[in-house]
Amino acid sequence: MPLLRWIGGKQHLVRRLLPFVPADYKKRCYREPFLGAASMFLALRPERAYLADANQHLIQCYEAVRDTHDRVSAYLRGHAAKDCSDHYYAVREAYNRRSPSAAQAARFLYLNRTCFNGVFRVNTRGQFNVPYGYKDHPIFPDRDVLATVSQALTNAELAAVDYQDSLAAGEPGDFFYLDPPYPPLNGTSYFTHYTKDRFDADDQRALAEWVWELDDRGCLFMMSNADTRMIRRLYRNFHVTRLPVIRYVTCKATKHRVGELVITNY
Ligand SMILES: C[S@@+](CC[C@H](N)C(=O)[O-])C[C@H]1O[C@@H](n2cnc3c(N)ncnc32)[C@H](O)[C@@H]1O
Repeated sequence: MPLLRWIGGKQHLVRRLLPFVPADYKKRCYREPFLGAASMFLALRPERAYLADANQHLIQCYEAVRDTHDRVSAYLRGHAAKDCSDHYYAVREAYNRRSPSAAQAARFLYLNRTCFNGVFRVNTRGQFNVPYGYKDHPIFPDRDVLATVSQALTNAELAAVDYQDSLAAGEPGDFFYLDPPYPPLNGTSYFTHYTKDRFDADDQRALAEWVWELDDRGCLFMMSNADTRMIRRLYRNFHVTRLPVIRYVTCKATKHRVGELVITNY
């Protein structure tokens, strides 16, 4: 069971993505700059890893799980037992007043499992403002899941930074898995509500320039992205494979049959 529900999370696809990972990845330094729910990292469990995301709430939660998973688990069990709309809004309010700790990580995990559609959204003051999801039987990560994630993260470095900082740090031979927010399918920005800022077409173009530079530096990269004309154009000189998938567009609860691209430079 994954630790988090996360928009754009690759849990459902990870088995189909693994064959694209370099066979010798364990000998390389692993870098994942758009970590989200960490599906690839948790499937690969590399020995040396640099993991980052612009979302500091997410990174603080991982740090607490890595360092204090037992306490996070105990607090989370307490929230799970009291789950209802009143409890949700009390926890949300407490979350927006507190700083990082095991209790705060448990609040983050509780909110993630019970909020509307697992969306992470903050207002202009950086406060989490997603309403209660009214799920009948929310499932919470148990002690074993938290212990497994904690163990996987033991030797990982975590940072709440923009992807450009993570890419700048790559050394020749390092392996990057890049899973940026996807461009909108048809003019709406379904997949861009992760942080206060959006990830728009200009960001996709800037990312592509960085990726070209990574390639020049001798790093290996594998990217997941949407199958759109713009993305194909930006990465036309690399190896591009289409994976047919059904994507759930959560804000309209509609299913879309779309293509995902896997792009590599090896
Ligand atoms: C498609 S999700 C990654 C999903 C992840 N691979 C998984 O399996 O759950 C994209 C992630 O990029 C992060 N992000 C958005 N803009 C960013 C930026 N400028 N720099 C770094 N991370 C960013 C979001 O917070 C989000 O977690």
